[in-house]
Amino acid sequence: MDIELMYQENILDHYKNPRNLGKIENATVHHHEKNPLCGDELDMFLVIDKNSKITEVKINPKGCAISVASASMLSEELKGKGIDDVEKMTKENILKTLGIPISPVRLKCALLSLDTLKNSALIYGRYVKK
Ligand code: FES
Repeated sequence: MDIELMYQENILDHYKNPRNLGKIENATVHHHEKNPLCGDELDMFLVIDKNSKITEVKINPKGCAISVASASMLSEELKGKGIDDVEKMTKENILKTLGIPISPVRLKCALLSLDTLKNSALIYGRYVKK
């Protein structure tokens, strides 16, 4: 099978069946992010332990295929990661996971998940961690 087609099918699968869907009532950090250009949204719930390690992740995405798939794929990678790992993540990580060329217009879609995660880490660092 064509490798790009494989990635496209994977994106569609994540869009139709986002992983880690839901919410966490007592999350350490809950952050809501919105793409101002289109109105698409993502809620991310993280449980972070005393060693600043992510132990639980839930997402609630409302958006296009790329933004939902990107959030779903990212959520799969987060369990067990430290907040310091999150701080090192770049847009290249997200684009590599998506695996298909993303046009400049769709870049915001692909990066809504990373923006949400980075802002969650910021909130954790500034207000939650003591
Ligand atoms: Fe809104 Fe993609 S069109 S995030």
